[in-house]
Parts: sequence; structure tokens; C-alpha cells
Amino acid sequence: MKTTVADFLSMKKNGEKITMVTAYDYSTAKLIDNSGINSILVGDSLGMVMLGYPDTVSVTMEDMLHHVKAVSRGTENALVICDMPFMSYQTSVYDAVVNAGRLMKEGRAGAVKLEGGKEYAEHVRAIVNASIPVCGHIGMTPQSVNAFGGFKVQGKTEEAARKLIEDAIALQEAGAFAVVIECVPHKLAEYISEILSIPTIGIGAGNGCSGQVLVYQDMLGMYSDFTPKFVKKFANVGDVMTDAFKSYSDEVKTGNFPTEEHSFKIDDDIIDKIRGDRQ
Ligand code: KIV
Repeated sequence: MKTTVADFLSMKKNGEKITMVTAYDYSTAKLIDNSGINSILVGDSLGMVMLGYPDTVSVTMEDMLHHVKAVSRGTENALVICDMPFMSYQTSVYDAVVNAGRLMKEGRAGAVKLEGGKEYAEHVRAIVNASIPVCGHIGMTPQSVNAFGGFKVQGKTEEAARKLIEDAIALQEAGAFAVVIECVPHKLAEYISEILSIPTIGIGAGNGCSGQVLVYQDMLGMYSDFTPKFVKKFANVGDVMTDAFKSYSDEVKTGNFPTEEHSFKIDDDIIDKIRGDRQ
């Protein structure tokens, strides 16, 4: 059964943890969906893990649409949430609604996510008023990497912690159905999770959140450019892939692949006749 934003709220109420993983393509979305994960995030992290940029700043609406369409086609049950890329909503409330609408209409997402707190409450409210569910994202918001001066833990001082609490409340009041909290001290994330009635989804924010999200290439050991401290590798799929590519290369070079098992047949008479005619 399709997971909805209402299910997110009931899971928080019932104390059931919410699971979320990123995906950017049809085949991976199908694997994640079949595993029973509650939600798939088409994150703008695709700029780094799929497109090879050093950060998420260059990701465009067209990039997001391309990937969310593929993920939506591969997903039956999980709630598909699509990130709004840098400068698709910061520019105006109007742009925010138009671009959120495109991710829903063309991309078939079930909800959108945008980074930022109080300063984007008006944008969130307008998108929600257009009947589009919005997930907030506070803490280490990667689109602000240049303003932060790097990927750094947020909310460590009293002032910064109070600002994050205000941001979370502002997003809830604006109608967000959930808030991602990224790279924030776990006791602060736990406190925010306690005071909000909507669920919090943590990434590098400890175990006190209502759920967790990870980038799939990180949790499967497929992306080695940069591994944040909060990542746990649940498998070494990167090594499995490299070994498989090496075996394939060896077998092709030595002539051991393909064998008859992986080839198609033609009547010997036909091929003999063609050979004869050309001599
Ligand atoms: O883009 C992304 O994958 C994200 C998660 C890291 C939360 O925003």
C-alpha cells in the first residue's frame, strides 16, 4: 500500500520509526521499494553521487525532473519525496509554487523537500496551500555550503541551537508534514523531535529523531569521494561491483566470455552457404 504523509504522522504518533533512503533511478528505486523502506528521497545529493559535482549547488530543475520521473516509475509503495534544487524556490514564493508543482505534475513525486527554516516559512505555506506536501530540512543544509564555509555540524552554540528550534517550529506552523535534521548534535535533535508534533527525519542527528535517512551510495559503500562521520556502511557493494567488473574484463580478455550459454544460434547450413558464396 502506498505510504502517504498521513502515514508519516501516524508513525510518529505510534512511536514507529520512519525509514528513508535516497534513490535517483528506476532500478534502485524498485530494490528499495521491495525492501519495505517507507520513503524514497530523490535528493539533490544526486549532484554529487550521480553527476560528480563537488556539492549540490549546480543541480537544476531539469536534473531533478529527469531523476524523479525514473524513481516514480520504479516505486509502488514508498512515499517519493523530491528535493527542490538550489535557486528553484529561494528566488520567490511564486517560483517555489511553480517549481514544486512541476516536481509533482511532471515528476509524479508525492511530496517536495526544501532547505531552510523561518526565512522560507512563507514559501512552505504557499506550496502547502497549493495542496503539495512539504518536508522541511534544517541544520547542515548542503545548498548553503558556501555560506557555512564547508560541510560543518550546525547548532552547537546556544544561539545556533535556539535558531534551529525556531526554524523547526516555523516549518511546522507553515504546514510542513516532516522536517529533515542534518548534522546537528543528537541531544538538540532529540529535543526538537520532542517538541514538534510532526516527524523529524535525522541524518547525522542521532537516534532521537522519528526516523532516519541515508544516501544509498554512502550506506552501500559505493561513493568514496567523501564519507561523513554519521554514515554506517551496511554493505560493501562498491567492492562487489569492482570485483565483478574485473572478472568481466578478465573473461573478455581471455576469451572465456561469452560462452554458448550466452549466445544465439543459426542453422549451420545457412552460415556454411554464406561463407561458401563469398569465397
Ligand atoms: O539531498 C539529499 O540526499 C538530502 C539528504 C542528505 C537528506 O537532502
